[in-house]
Amino acid sequence: MSHVTAVLPTDEPPLMHQAVEEAVRLLREGEVVALPTETVYGLAANALDAAAVAKIFEAKERPTFDPLIVHLPDKKQLDTVADVPAEIAQVVRQLTEKFWPGPLTLLLPKKAVVPDIVTAGLPTVAVRVSSNPVFRRVITALGRPLAAPSANRFGSISPTSAAAVLAELDGRIHLIVDAGASLFGLESTIIQIEPGQPKPVITIVRPGPLTPEDLKPFGKVRLGPRTVLDQATEAPGQLATHYAPRTPLRLLTRPEDFHPEEGKRYALLSLRGEESDGYVGLHDWEEVMMLSPGSGKLPEAAVRFFHCLRRLDDLGVDEIIAEPMFEHGMGIAMMDKLRRASVNKPAPVHGNPVHQRQRFSGADDRE
Ligand code: TXA
Ligand code: MG
Repeated sequence: MSHVTAVLPTDEPPLMHQAVEEAVRLLREGEVVALPTETVYGLAANALDAAAVAKIFEAKERPTFDPLIVHLPDKKQLDTVADVPAEIAQVVRQLTEKFWPGPLTLLLPKKAVVPDIVTAGLPTVAVRVSSNPVFRRVITALGRPLAAPSANRFGSISPTSAAAVLAELDGRIHLIVDAGASLFGLESTIIQIEPGQPKPVITIVRPGPLTPEDLKPFGKVRLGPRTVLDQATEAPGQLATHYAPRTPLRLLTRPEDFHPEEGKRYALLSLRGEESDGYVGLHDWEEVMMLSPGSGKLPEAAVRFFHCLRRLDDLGVDEIIAEPMFEHGMGIAMMDKLRRASVNKPAPVHGNPVHQRQRFSGADDRE
């Protein structure tokens, strides 16, 4: 697998036209193409063509027991890939009306037309509709669902720019369509829905841009059980390879627990830099990356999150120290990722996110 990887821009109408045309041509030929979405960049292939989907797993070096998300051209096509059970049809309709196109992925019983390689043999399929205008042009012109995981090598950080995709997959794919930085910067929120009285039960399988607050009007919201991959990996230590930078990362819950070793180089991932509580002044850091300089707003931090991790990873320091974040809104997803990446694995927070919020009472204005 050695290709010349083209990066095609879309910032002028003729360039957009060319990039979309080339992407559609390759997808029709059964190739994979890296496409922008509003969450992170995805590596797409025709979801109904098992041989094309196999190329995604090959390019990413992804184990075939980890299923992919199917993206639809339009929400009206949900029933072409999924069988929505009658007991949850109403809430599915409400959620898709409200959030599609957008960063919400639903787990639903799959239709036979979806090849087993897409769902890793599971009876369910993960489905969403992306709101990115370039993605929409491509998928509309193609007129078929696209399977697309994040466009990174397996276990690595999700890409939020064309340059980040290139760093991950150069030489492994023919084309990256460049539409600038991702709007949200975190992967979609994945949910599973069960019927319930008086309300359906919505389980957040992967926290993301849509928060428990956003979902609350539609049902009783709870966090985890986690994704298929988590359930498949029994030893918690194995999760270190998931979402992790190459450089060891330590989530430092209390600044006083930092004990630098002589001669080692450390960099800091901070929410607000000097304005955070005591982390910047702790050490003569090799570099401080601020997720949300000044404002401390979590959606702003989310946009920069993977980009900052990537930059810190490229420094070649001995350890990245990460400051904790408020665990509400998009902070839930970022803390989830930091915990998974962290060498010291602070205990995951389970249970009702409302309780987590109370631990940081008064912090709502920061979101
Ligand atoms: O925002 C996103 O969701 C991005 C963009 C490209 O759409 N995609 C993305 O895909 O993050 P990926 O493959 O990196 O993550 C999908 C996650 C995986 O952890 C996988 O285990 C889980 O979704 N998943 C997929 N199908 C599933 C299923 N049927 N049941 C449970 N988990 C599933
Ligand atoms: Mg991924």
